[in-house]
Amino acid sequence: MARWSLLLGICFINIVLAVDKNNFKTCEQSSFCRRLRKYQAGDSVYQADLSSLQITENAIEVGIQNTQVANANLKLTLTAIVGNVFRVSVDEIDGLFPRYKPQFALNGEPQVAKLEVLQRDQDSVTVKSENNKATLTAKPLKLEFYRDDVLVTILNGKGLFAFEHYRTKPDEGATDPQIQDDPGAWEENFKTHHDTKPRGPSAIAGDFTFPNAQRVYGLPEHGDHLALRTTQQNNLDPYRLYNLDVFEYELDSTMAIYGAVPIVYAHSAEHTVGVFWHNAAETWVDIKNSKDINVVSSLVNLVSGSKTEASVDVRFMSESGIMDFFVLTGPKPKDVIKQYASLTGVHGLPQLFSLAYHQCRWNYNDQDDVTTVVANFDNNNLPVDVMWLDIEYTDAKKYFTWDPIKFSNPEIMVNNLTSTGRKLVVIIDPHIKREGGYFLHEDALKYDFYVKNHDGSVYEGWCWPGSSSYLDFYDPKTVDYYKKLYALENFKGTTHDVWIWNDMNEPSVFNGPEVTMPKDCVHHGGWEHRDVHNEYGLVHTIGTYQGLRLRSPNKRPFILTRGHFAGSQRFAAVWTGDNEAKWSHLTASFPMCLSEALGGISFCGADVGGFFNNPDIELLQRWYQAGIWLPFFRAHAHIDTKRREPYLFSDDVVNRIRTALRLRYVHLPLWYTLFWEHETKGEPVIRPLFYHYPDDENVLDIDNTALIGHSVLAHPVTEPGETSVDVYLPGGKNGYWYDIQDFQLYHGGNHKISVDLDKHVAFYRGGSIIPRKDRPRRSSAVMHHDPFSLYIALDDKQKASGTLYLDDYESFDYKNEKRYTYLNFDFSNNKFTSSLIDKATYPTEEWIEKIVILGPPAGITGAKLTSKTLGTINLETSYDKESKSLTIRKPGASVLEPFTIELV
Ligand code: NOJ
Repeated sequence: MARWSLLLGICFINIVLAVDKNNFKTCEQSSFCRRLRKYQAGDSVYQADLSSLQITENAIEVGIQNTQVANANLKLTLTAIVGNVFRVSVDEIDGLFPRYKPQFALNGEPQVAKLEVLQRDQDSVTVKSENNKATLTAKPLKLEFYRDDVLVTILNGKGLFAFEHYRTKPDEGATDPQIQDDPGAWEENFKTHHDTKPRGPSAIAGDFTFPNAQRVYGLPEHGDHLALRTTQQNNLDPYRLYNLDVFEYELDSTMAIYGAVPIVYAHSAEHTVGVFWHNAAETWVDIKNSKDINVVSSLVNLVSGSKTEASVDVRFMSESGIMDFFVLTGPKPKDVIKQYASLTGVHGLPQLFSLAYHQCRWNYNDQDDVTTVVANFDNNNLPVDVMWLDIEYTDAKKYFTWDPIKFSNPEIMVNNLTSTGRKLVVIIDPHIKREGGYFLHEDALKYDFYVKNHDGSVYEGWCWPGSSSYLDFYDPKTVDYYKKLYALENFKGTTHDVWIWNDMNEPSVFNGPEVTMPKDCVHHGGWEHRDVHNEYGLVHTIGTYQGLRLRSPNKRPFILTRGHFAGSQRFAAVWTGDNEAKWSHLTASFPMCLSEALGGISFCGADVGGFFNNPDIELLQRWYQAGIWLPFFRAHAHIDTKRREPYLFSDDVVNRIRTALRLRYVHLPLWYTLFWEHETKGEPVIRPLFYHYPDDENVLDIDNTALIGHSVLAHPVTEPGETSVDVYLPGGKNGYWYDIQDFQLYHGGNHKISVDLDKHVAFYRGGSIIPRKDRPRRSSAVMHHDPFSLYIALDDKQKASGTLYLDDYESFDYKNEKRYTYLNFDFSNNKFTSSLIDKATYPTEEWIEKIVILGPPAGITGAKLTSKTLGTINLETSYDKESKSLTIRKPGASVLEPFTIELV
């Protein structure tokens, strides 16, 4: 026995993990990708028939023909959308079969804007809306989009637009040369389609040219850098968007993994412009950067300083569906990201606990284990808010049940945990065990809730429980049933403090093609799985979200999902799935979550410590130090790994992890405020540097650094044995940055920062005021009434500003009853002012305990506070020579009343 465990232990250390690429298709193996990718740039075979042009208040419509295929008639609609967005939809006229349009990505139908025709003749038509203009040229088909009269993108500039027609059946003699030439073209659809009539190929493609763009970002989720790389030339497969459970996914890769968000942002100092390709089918995206990116270094690396104009080409290729895309014309990163948020929505303000620390492992053994782990955290003064239960809590992988032996008394376990303000999260996957007597399976069969095979029988696949079937969340009656499963009377043992983890919802099918559901499975409405695949995780979380709203109407749901699509942010947080306990995976966590944030999904994190394998002590500590700067902060580990709860290590390690956890907890007011601003303004919570410094070429490829809002810059140490790290701080010589630990001032530029194991490489931006709660606590719940500390980081003009949002930290009263307080802080001319941004107030007892000024003016001897209730009172100040900071002690002012503090 001992021998075996020793051997196993050695194996753990030596296992080399690698994805099995044989399980997953390359573009060449994916029939439609192979076919479409062969197209050569040149004159497009598509033409618009401007004699068919229809003009309405908000849109134009025009017929399109494929000049090489008889009766291949399309209709193109260009609609103006409020906020400087154009939408373009192309569908078949009289198609033999309907084509799918995603139903859940958009946050409602976008609001249309007025459109005016500027010019029209037989060759082209030009329309204008707000600051946007679009010119459609008929022969060949081309659409040019302008922002403020500058050309920002062109559709079909390379002539690679494609729209395969269901009706081009070989037996009918139709001749779409591109399809006829590819013997594989008919294999996939022809034989397997559930209709009696074969449909044939139905892929679509659109190429976009972005003149002058220097970089293109987007397309989460990939284990890759933030800036998208050239694919075609570099012998790289296109970026693939096809939600898949990829075991041991690789990095620096364009392979598909769990999520798919088909948005790109082409960026230059002048313009940032987005294209949202609204399609839920398997999609491949080829990228061409005219100036290539050096992926080896993530620091400054424009390949040459030469003056040739940069530009970017992006080509989307999807297997089925209509063509529907949005052009977001920015013009700056923050505008374009807001435009995307206005289309697909935002994550509603989460409960505060979910921004704190989560402790997970596959699995906590039993109910006593859960209780003991929390007690150990408490005994070691390590804060933790949430305990998680993975699949082993269930009775033999039957969701909504408990293991009768290991979790015989969930009520007591949950109450033990939640009586101290903590929460529990349990896993619920979408596959259902096919076992007689399991109520959910029996109901699903009886009421017809499952996804079907193409012959109409219930689809069966293999997942954790063994033989399983999959709930069809496209069917409203399934969702109606499913959401009620979360009711406390149905999911016995849970309470209003138990939240949900939706995993394996790509969906993962161990014996399915590419570990997922066959494409010819059929969903409600007759849609093939092929059409809706990337949306499945999203519809799963919508069901869960509705269930939790029903169960706990006045609590903001917390859901974590692995499979995700555009719009998933409205329902769930996301994590980067099964990473590895390797330095490279720690490094990748930043670009992966930054990319998600650009894709609208700000609430993102990576398994702290790495899921597979055992991290060494240094890696584990560094991972905690990095993980505190991503919005979702959870430690998790595979069932075969050694236990690694932080209290298990030596004192110095525990101390370091405690310091990291506390740094997360002191900044909770900042995170919470940023999520409020995310919800109300559409701004991402974490941001790559180019978001705030769009014209600084040095930041284009920096993706190991995140801005938390616009006040903290975090650059975690992600290499072993480092004694120093190179950090680029933006803003030039007028940029002020204060080290968050010793408050040392740095100016913009490149810096070598010495690091030991205790060092956190993070800075407050001069010009910002950071709200904190500095009293060390065991959970966020205990901090609800704690006073705030404000850190005023002064800029080169001795000014700073910031905001603070607070409410009851859990309910919807902030929305329904406007019970919240939102404050503006300003410091200028040696005077600090706190004022209410709007009239709403939350009757809190929170107050300001301390103000720390970084880079303060010289010669200050005290301060005077003035407010209505307190009148004018003198406050003590103290100057710390080493950190060069000035502390104003105990202002004692409530956050509810405006006040000023003048330095004297
Ligand atoms: C896969 C998930 O990615 C992982 O986090 C989880 O532990 C296992 N499924 C078991 O549920």
